Amino acid sequence: MRRSSLALLRWYRRAKREMPWRRNPTPYRVWVSEIMLQQTTVAAVTPKYESFLRRFPTVAALAAATEDEVLQHWAGLGYYSRVRNLRRAALTVVAEHGGELPSDFDTILALPGIGRYTAGAILSIAFGKPYPLVDGNVIRVFSRWFAIKGRAKDPAFVKKIWLLAGRLLPRNNPGDWNQALMELGATICTPGAPSCGAC
Ligand code: ADE
Repeated sequence: MRRSSLALLRWYRRAKREMPWRRNPTPYRVWVSEIMLQQTTVAAVTPKYESFLRRFPTVAALAAATEDEVLQHWAGLGYYSRVRNLRRAALTVVAEHGGELPSDFDTILALPGIGRYTAGAILSIAFGKPYPLVDGNVIRVFSRWFAIKGRAKDPAFVKKIWLLAGRLLPRNNPGDWNQALMELGATICTPGAPSCGAC
């Protein structure tokens, strides 16, 4: 691992923010948190996450609920297709995978609402498997770190970032690594007025 990568991992372990899904990162807990975080900030997600998990503590509990009940517990988060897909995926996980989220990339990717980012997050954070992930934070961090120019809307540019993410991913602790990149992007390598000196 390059020296700067090691420094990033060390920084993350020291500086990471406390978040409920970072305690006890089971596949289900990571899955729900990553879906909620897709279009919503950490501050808005945190209280909703805790009440949602209290009401639906397992995949089976989520699958057993009606769509209306699940929508009620999503109130305030918006983008309701996310939670409709979450419930549909939970039904599939119960019907086809014995209530446990599968740990195989293609099988997870086939579930409603789970794309490449979410599959990478679940596999790396909850299962410790070496899958990269790329979100807006990771795009910004890598483009600055390696001085690659491009726009987040340009598929060829994003493809380059995914390739780079795969190449730099450490085989051990991929979950900490992926979260360290996002954490750096969210707190130091921010879109406006980044703290370049701190980095
Ligand atoms: N944004 C989305 N998921 C995240 C995570 N696990 N850590 C930090 N920021 C995130």
